[in-house]
Amino acid sequence: MKLGVNIDHIATLREARKINEPNPLEAVFLLKNAGASQVTLHLREDRRHIHDEDFKAIVSQSFLPINLECASSMVEQVISYSPHRITLVPEKREEVTTEGGLNLAQEQVRNAIKKLHFHSIPTSLFIDPKLENIQICKELGVQSVELHTGEWANLNLMAYTNLRHTHNAIPSLDLPLEVLEEKMKTCLKEIQECSKLAKELGLEVFAGHGLNYQNVSPIATITEISELNIGHSIIARAVFVGLSEAVREMRELIER
Ligand code: PXP
Repeated sequence: MKLGVNIDHIATLREARKINEPNPLEAVFLLKNAGASQVTLHLREDRRHIHDEDFKAIVSQSFLPINLECASSMVEQVISYSPHRITLVPEKREEVTTEGGLNLAQEQVRNAIKKLHFHSIPTSLFIDPKLENIQICKELGVQSVELHTGEWANLNLMAYTNLRHTHNAIPSLDLPLEVLEEKMKTCLKEIQECSKLAKELGLEVFAGHGLNYQNVSPIATITEISELNIGHSIIARAVFVGLSEAVREMRELIER
């Protein structure tokens, strides 16, 4: 299983001070030896972390393939840099992170896919793990799907960590442990079934969002999934143990 490391939050740290360090480009040179298979970047419309000059420098200097996540509205701006893959994601200006998968009925999404196909850029769609979404992705002619694991992650955080006692608790998931565990079973089953269907239809299957050292293992055992894209938890761990070690630890968990 491949590991794409999302390095947006190195830029988030830089933007907290609005200077020129830490530079996400430096990370790229460590990732390969640490066991990453790809660099994942999200160029957001509001440029809140990764900026255009980061993206250009990383695309031109990385030894690893670049998976660029962006909103459908951004495709025209990024196409000429020819990243190895573009993952279309939904984007709301006010959200903290990408909440939920793409609305596949949107004309803008469909037009973006056509443009990417015209330029022969492999395209992935970030979707909620629902069987009907997989069928639509197949009809849209993309090569791969990335299943949104945010719900899985949130349920795990509320069930097994102290998040519920903090100001960042998720009110809609303030539920008894048995209820959360039941929801986790359903959620994992949906991810498994979507992975299976996508593979049967000839799509490559990736997953990501909110995956961390505590919740990654059940997802990593789904054999149809060939790649995980993980950012926040690796960068958070890197603060304490360094980026190479944080990537190695995640790699080891995924392989185990
Ligand atoms: N995959 C996609 C498509 C994403 O949009 C993100 C967040 O930018 C990730 C993976 C990584 O999520 P996290 O930072 O929660 O690991």
